[in-house]
Amino acid sequence: MLVTGGAGYIGSHTALALLNAGHQVVSLDNYVNCTRGALAVVSDLTGREVVEIEGDATDATLVQSVITEHNVSAVIHMAALKAVGESVEQPLDYYRNNLGSAIAVLDAMKAAGIWNFVFSSSATVYGDPESNPIPETAAIGAANPYGMTKEMIEVIMRDVAASDDRWRMTSLRYFNPVGAHESGRIAEAPVGKPNNLMPMVMDVATGKRDEVMVFGDDYPTPDGTGVRDYIHVMDLVEGHVAALEHMDNHSGYEVYNLGQGSGVSVIEMIRAVEKITGLTIPFRIVDRRPGDIAECVADPARANAELGWATTRSIEQACADAWNSQSATAG
Ligand code: WQD
Repeated sequence: MLVTGGAGYIGSHTALALLNAGHQVVSLDNYVNCTRGALAVVSDLTGREVVEIEGDATDATLVQSVITEHNVSAVIHMAALKAVGESVEQPLDYYRNNLGSAIAVLDAMKAAGIWNFVFSSSATVYGDPESNPIPETAAIGAANPYGMTKEMIEVIMRDVAASDDRWRMTSLRYFNPVGAHESGRIAEAPVGKPNNLMPMVMDVATGKRDEVMVFGDDYPTPDGTGVRDYIHVMDLVEGHVAALEHMDNHSGYEVYNLGQGSGVSVIEMIRAVEKITGLTIPFRIVDRRPGDIAECVADPARANAELGWATTRSIEQACADAWNSQSATAG
């Protein structure tokens, strides 16, 4: 199995789940958005080797050589730039990198004669949903360049799958991944200031930052703060294993939401972390963040039914595992 972006937060947890399911894993990563070391931990945790290659997934020749040299039979494509705000400021970088790497990987797979492709998509493709929970049949309308790259790659997957029935393509729409493997040895360690809520709350819990800025409390939600579907990263990556096993008997293009199916607000998340850590997490209500939406919660029924997959870990477990990973790996 080739995992592009395999050294990152979700990529390294994916490698762990794949190894635990008996697959071989090759990772290709350019380390632009993660530090080295996670895959060595994964090898230590599983007692199995991960082949770790440094390189850029936009290089089709490199990807093809990796596929051929390591006898790769399927690709999970995770390598991408993923900061919404940055994508608004640097759209060209996002389109060049995210579309370029997806097309290069598909070109390399076709040249190497392998057809199983799992894509790391995002609930961001739904834009501001008409209603929640959101089924895969909901209207698509990304509201930022990052989300638009995900939306465009899904269109590419649909058209490429329609052009040749040897392709088996699955797009997995992630809601909000949080937490860490129970060992605490693989932490979400974004480079620079965290964009996302959980790493920000963890930074305050570990004393790296003074308070959480809560981006608005005037949304039409129970406590006025944003509501999201936070999914434990181990549940998320186990969904990839289920998708790979499902695609062995299903050609064409499939889309699945990977989420809990229930929402948690910003303040509820802060309170959950306070309960787990026994700490007070100072926060301040500030203006809304441009582009944010009130609520985004998955309807995971299709993945439950067709992949035989469902989340098994609670938000409290995710907070405990996030805290465990931060305190275990705090530098
Ligand atoms: C969650 C909630 C914020 C930070 C984005 C991408 C998505 C995926 C996950 C890549 C919102 C609030 C946040 C903070 C806050 N990324 N918040 N203070 O925006 O739902 O999704 O990240 O795959 O594609 O769109 O996640 O964690 O940034 O925000 O109040 O310091 O927390 O307003 O309500 P989001 P998030």
